[in-house]
Amino acid sequence: MGSGAFASVYKYIGFINIAVKEIPKGSQYNGSEPELNALTTLSSKHENIVAFFGHEEKDGTMCLLMELCDTDLGTYMTDKREGMVEANIFSILIQASSGIEYMHSKRIIHRDLKPANILIKYGDNETPIAKIGDFGLSFEFEGSISLATKSISIVGTFNYWAPEIMKVMQDPNAVKRISGFPYSVDTFAFGVITYWMFKGEFPFSLEERFSSTFTAQAKINEHFSDKSSILKDVLEGMLAMNPEKRPPIATVKAIFQLVLMRLEN
Ligand SMILES: Nc1ncnc2c1ncn2[C@@H]1O[C@H](COP(=O)(O)OP(=O)(O)O)[C@@H](O)[C@H]1O
Ligand SMILES: [Mg+2]
Repeated sequence: MGSGAFASVYKYIGFINIAVKEIPKGSQYNGSEPELNALTTLSSKHENIVAFFGHEEKDGTMCLLMELCDTDLGTYMTDKREGMVEANIFSILIQASSGIEYMHSKRIIHRDLKPANILIKYGDNETPIAKIGDFGLSFEFEGSISLATKSISIVGTFNYWAPEIMKVMQDPNAVKRISGFPYSVDTFAFGVITYWMFKGEFPFSLEERFSSTFTAQAKINEHFSDKSSILKDVLEGMLAMNPEKRPPIATVKAIFQLVLMRLEN
């Protein structure tokens, strides 16, 4: 039913319907599996994180048994973007920030947040429930700063990577110079997701992503001119070049909730 850079995900229809993610050894999985660790820590304790039922290792393949969702946010938006009301976008963003907030409270940094890794499950009346998934590049923060070299070898899109990850990618020695605030790589990615949810495009050009200074301010002012200034401010904060300037996810969530409340009144 889906596959990303490393794994394949199958739908298993049985007594209960589950999703099985198979990770072949030698790719992402090499004995200690960050996804298994993260899912074990987070599992089934928060509505906005994909539920985890157990795992099995066979012939060098790690199988993770998870709650079956209906689609992912990337596909969902492609199908539904047209005619989607703003309140719906906020609802998904608030749910996702709730999941990220819980994950960060358990000291887990996702490091690969993007629409394909946010799963969607239809609730009553097809109301989408958002769940954070794919913890394959996650990292448990233990007080020291590390962006682990693994991030460098990821294939795929870098549109969601924080500038400090881009720097490491271009110069592995830069990892030594990175200071502090590792949770903020998720905040940056979530800023890109937020921008993309509203506009269907990215806040930065390719050149900007590879330059050492850039700001999303001009694009936000241009493309979000009809939005409240508090939303523009939080978006600019999430997308700040300097990780220390990015707000915690709890703040982001509170602002989304406030803007949604104003929309509804
Ligand atoms: N529990 C699930 N329910 C439904 N679809 C899923 C589930 N987990 C993953 N998928 C689909 O499979 C794709 C790849 O899964 P993912 O966990 O992101 O693997 P990878 O590490 O290879 O990126 C996702 O983008 C999503 O479309
Ligand atoms: Mg993925």
